[in-house]
Formats: sequence, C-alpha cells, structure tokens
Amino acid sequence: MSPDHPERVAAWLSEVFGGPRFYTERYGGYRRMVSQHIGKEIRPEQRALWATYMVQSADDAGLPSDPEFRAAFVAYIEWGSRIALENSGPSATPPPNMRCRAGGGSATRRRARGRRPTRMTRR
Ligand code: HEM
Repeated sequence: MSPDHPERVAAWLSEVFGGPRFYTERYGGYRRMVSQHIGKEIRPEQRALWATYMVQSADDAGLPSDPEFRAAFVAYIEWGSRIALENSGPSATPPPNMRCRAGGGSATRRRARGRRPTRMTRR
C-alpha cells in the first residue's frame, strides 16, 4: 500500500460524513477510490478483518461516540467494504457513480439538528 494510504482513507471517510472535499480535490474522488480496489481480489475474511479494525479504530481516532453516529459509521463500513469486495475482481465493472455522501449531507450536522442518521443508497 502507498505510504499515505491512511491519510487517503481518512480523507475519503471524512468527506463521506460531510467534511471537506479533500479526497475529491487531492486524489480524484469516487472513481479513483473505486479503481484502487479493482483486481485486488479481496477475500471475505480480509473484508471482515478490515471492517473490524476500522470500527475499533474509531475510538483511537476520537470519533464521536454517540450511538447515532457510531451506528451510521458501522453501517457505512459494512456497506462499503462489501461493495469494495464486490468490485475487487479482475474484471469488476463498478457503477460509474454512486451516492457517497451520507444522505446527501453531513451526518454530523444532521445529528446536531436532531434528525435521523444517514442512509447510504446507490444512485
Ligand atoms: C468502506 C470500505 C472501504 C473504503 C471507504 C476504502 C477506501 C479506500 C481508499 C480511499 C483508498 C485509497 C485510494 C487512493 O489511492 O487514492 C483505498 C485503497 C485500497 N483499499 Fe480500500 N476501502 C474500503 C474497503 C477495503 C477493503 C475491505 C479492503 C481489503 C480488505 C481494501 C483494500 C484496499 C487496497 C489494497 C487499496 C490500495 C492501496 C494502495 O495500493 O496503495 N479496501 N481504499
């Protein structure tokens, strides 16, 4: 993996949850992210480990600990890692676009306004 892989994943995740568009502006957005998984042939046990470590690292990273945010975060990791696995075959043809932002806005802002957390749907 590239040395700045953690920064890239962090930029992607913060953008998904309504933060600055750093991943899109610095690295290339959805197409770049998806393209990096094609051909990696992710195995189910690798996906499961990845998801477990990501969820555990939320505490280390000091992410908000309230139930609504964490539920949305876990759901995104589960959903996204299954999409990554699906699109990791040598001849995967991922959809050209997919709704990536949490519900089209910021999960954090929604939470602050007392609204329901996010739903991630294919476009
Ligand atoms: C929610 C699920 C996931 C997200 C949001 C995600 C996000 C990303 C991002 C942002 C990158 C960097 C792309 C770039 O270079 O700009 C990346 C690369 C990569 N991801 Fe994922 N990923 C997910 C799931 C997984 C899983 C489950 C695996 C394997 C177990 C995986 C393996 C990789 C690999 C091998 C790379 C290429 C790293 C490199 O060559 O530098 N990803 N991913």
